[in-house]
Amino acid sequence: MRNWLRNLQYRSVHRIANPISRIAIGTWFFGDRVAKNDALDCLACAVDSGINHIDTADVYARGEAQSIVGEFLKSQSRSSLFVSSKCYFPTGGAQHERGLSREHILASVNESLRRLNTDYLDILYCHRFDVETPLEETIQVLNELTDQGKIRYWGTSMWKPSNISAALEICGSNRPLFEQSLYNLLERQVVEPVLYNFLLREKIGLVAWSPLCGGILSGKYLNHIPANSRVTYMPQLLDQIERTRTIVDRLNVLAHQIGYEANHLSLAWLLNKPHLAGLVIGCSSKEQLVSNLHAVELPYTDSLDEKVSQIITPD
Ligand SMILES: NC(=O)c1ccc[n+]([C@@H]2O[C@H](COP(=O)([O-])OP(=O)(O)OC[C@H]3O[C@@H](n4cnc5c(N)ncnc54)[C@H](OP(=O)(O)O)[C@@H]3O)[C@@H](O)[C@H]2O)c1
Repeated sequence: MRNWLRNLQYRSVHRIANPISRIAIGTWFFGDRVAKNDALDCLACAVDSGINHIDTADVYARGEAQSIVGEFLKSQSRSSLFVSSKCYFPTGGAQHERGLSREHILASVNESLRRLNTDYLDILYCHRFDVETPLEETIQVLNELTDQGKIRYWGTSMWKPSNISAALEICGSNRPLFEQSLYNLLERQVVEPVLYNFLLREKIGLVAWSPLCGGILSGKYLNHIPANSRVTYMPQLLDQIERTRTIVDRLNVLAHQIGYEANHLSLAWLLNKPHLAGLVIGCSSKEQLVSNLHAVELPYTDSLDEKVSQIITPD
């Protein structure tokens, strides 16, 4: 492990024996916008840097992202890694190929295990709440999969406190471990303040996704649109780039004043949240990943936090 990353923070999560790194590597575009070899480089760099938390989903690149992670896992000690998958979004056109029905969860888990070359998932997230499937059916199959050892834990993603409360009433001791939510300096409305406090009370870990708001918080869109950047294939981000330009510009200036970049300041803000179990970063190259990991070195003081707060919530 590289010396400068010795302080990559690990979190001992209640119920988990081995601490997991607070930074997870996301695989959303692996095998799609990020070519296989680049994705494998990113995974190797992540693990070499001390990251032991890999986030996948059955739908990423139509399964290809998991196949790439599966190839990577062949050279790794499986028990030293914490690997997730998710289930909900359509994996095919038929009714039984979507949502959180028994049939879809079983098919999703079995396919994910096959692609990942593993016989268990550390966590299976319910990728969204399913209003069409009785919650009892979902919880029952999650309990069975846990008993069979195919999943160690389960979690939720973008569930409201009321959804999670309903699950807690019927899940018995097999409680959700994490909720994975959209959370970054520009998008705080899903988490703050209600969900954050609810999860804290219920002892469910919060894992943030899109910590750089899809790259906007790296500051790279302030002057021009770089070729092959996310906005070139997700043009819906353009509107958000315009709406948040002033804030990102001010964050960028503040980061430079302390000798860092906007991506470091944005990630350090999240890492400073005491109840954050982890944040899932995306990268399209090893260089981006290495740059982002320098966020763990940024001394995030109270006075810096005050300045950041003034920028993101101006009077
Ligand atoms: N649970 C859910 O519903 C959900 C939803 C979305 C994502 N996720 C998970 O969260 C992970 C991260 O999401 P995300 O990719 O949106 O996260 P992000 O960290 O906000 O954005 C990552 C993107 O920003 C750009 N970027 C990253 N570092 C950069 C740097 N140093 N300089 C310039 N550009 C940089 C890259 O895009 P370009 O190079 O293409 O511009 C990269 O792909 C996903 O991989 C997935 O595992 C979960």
